[in-house]
Amino acid sequence: MTNQPDRFSTPSSIPHGGDIDGAAVRYGIAATDWVDLSTGINPHAYPVPELPATAWHRLPGQAAEARLLATARQYYSMTDTADICAVPGTQSVLQLLPHILPSGQIDILSPTYGEHAHCWSQHSCSNGNELNGQKTFTVHQTRTVREIHSISEINTESKIAIIVNPNNPNGKRYNVIELLELAETLRCRGGFLILDEAFADEDPELSCAPSLPEDGMIILRSFGKFFGLAGLRLGFVIAPPAICDTLHRRLGPWAVNGPALHLGQLALADTVWQQQTRGQLAKSTDRLRQLLVQSGLEIIGSTSLFCLIKHPDATALHEHLCAHGILCRFFEDRPGFLRFGLPEMDSHWQRLEKSLLVWSEKS
Ligand SMILES: Cc1ncc(COP(=O)(O)O)c(C=O)c1O
Repeated sequence: MTNQPDRFSTPSSIPHGGDIDGAAVRYGIAATDWVDLSTGINPHAYPVPELPATAWHRLPGQAAEARLLATARQYYSMTDTADICAVPGTQSVLQLLPHILPSGQIDILSPTYGEHAHCWSQHSCSNGNELNGQKTFTVHQTRTVREIHSISEINTESKIAIIVNPNNPNGKRYNVIELLELAETLRCRGGFLILDEAFADEDPELSCAPSLPEDGMIILRSFGKFFGLAGLRLGFVIAPPAICDTLHRRLGPWAVNGPALHLGQLALADTVWQQQTRGQLAKSTDRLRQLLVQSGLEIIGSTSLFCLIKHPDATALHEHLCAHGILCRFFEDRPGFLRFGLPEMDSHWQRLEKSLLVWSEKS
């Protein structure tokens, strides 16, 4: 018996996909027997080669970081004026941004990845309050966090806007020109557009990175999802140099580990793997969409790494799948929706197909 606090279930943490250990305990099914469809991570990861021993033995060096960043600049088609910073996963930056950006009204295009609202409202009153049908959290006198539902709701009070493109979980896509205009509007009042492009690798045309303005926009790029290496904890921030400098200082030395610097560089340079993967992911998402539609489920939207469905009895469907050892993403705050990631192998596709068939015959 230990009195250590459990870091993974403190009230400050919010639910995420990928909690196979929790599901194993709740449903009495061994962790190894689950089909995990609860994340948006590519199940066919970039193949990890044997890494040079120095990547493990030495502290991460400047030369390896410079090589990674030069390759990332090409991968993201960046302009010369924009800066880029490697980070230990973009989650680390979500947590820092509220400490380094100006106060004011923070507008989060919702529903979206819950950590954005969570990080900005960490010090708010416990449940927030409901204003004009919008969830609002008062953080302190000068900061208000609003969950909004369209870009048109961003008003003259808005200082920071947060948009995930394409959005998690509904796959909604936003127009690059519209996003650049919004960033310019916010810049004029000393604000920023935080653009989270965690799922943009499927289509480089979706990204604002090639046209990053001199100021007013901060782009977050996850590495782990498209490359299927979420455990490596690597990500990038593409932003004006002042923002990258501040993040660099806040994160301190050696924030990105040696294997991540090395492997990230290889994967970002491997255009053959990237092209093949885009094609394979598109095929798999089509297959998933077809399967869900055949099972009578209404698709709300998708990216090449997940598909969101709406169902009046989504809670029961989630329970049914869990009873069959299949974990999809259930949203406690939006119980009518379920998000499905891609099955990894034939046997997983078959298990999903079979369980959905049983479900549709029952209902
Ligand atoms: C939209 C979005 N942004 C950011 C993250 C954080 O990912 P990472 O820290 O691995 O870059 C996630 C994780 O699921 C996400 O879904």
